[in-house]
Amino acid sequence: MKNKIENILNNLEQQGWSVQEHFFPAELIQKLKETLSSFRQQGLLKQAGIGRKNNFHIEQSIRSDEIKWFDENNTNEYQKEYLNIAQQLQDAINQRFFLGLFELEVHYALYPPGAFYKRHLDQHKNQDIRVITLITYLNENWENEDGGELQLYLKNGDTISISPEAGTVVCFFSADFEHEVLPAKRERASLTGWFRKRT
Ligand code: OGA
Ligand code: MN
Repeated sequence: MKNKIENILNNLEQQGWSVQEHFFPAELIQKLKETLSSFRQQGLLKQAGIGRKNNFHIEQSIRSDEIKWFDENNTNEYQKEYLNIAQQLQDAINQRFFLGLFELEVHYALYPPGAFYKRHLDQHKNQDIRVITLITYLNENWENEDGGELQLYLKNGDTISISPEAGTVVCFFSADFEHEVLPAKRERASLTGWFRKRT
């Protein structure tokens, strides 16, 4: 884990973004996927919206995934393990970049076939408390023809295309990279988190 975290730090320093395959243990990813499936069976997934508080609204032309936020008072052992590893990453990022990150807000996301999330930035208007985005994919045996890539738009005009394969983690400075989720042919599951600083 130390080496993988070190890779992420180096990538963040050099280019502001990082993609790490097999970041989380495969068994943990599988358990997190099962947790998501059970949330779905219990009807706990909700249509995702955009904006915050008074500005929150559902906009299916922009995003069409369903989400469930982590409930910090009700986390199972797998969510705890995920949070524990994320905490190690947060500590390492703070040590390297002095960012004062203090928590990870995180939700499960399920994109039904055909669902998407149009090109966007992860910060809310006039709010920069989301500093770093951390996306974790839960989809075993993802094939190229399944689609559903994450497109990361770089400042120099290049586009990075990332396959949402189980265990892969994508990490980037939230303010700097617009990105987009392309429609997939099969269901696409992820965990999306943001390391936050205090207001
Ligand atoms: C998001 C997001 C990307 C993904 O939830 O803000 O951009 O690949 N997710 O799931
Ligand atoms: Mn996003």
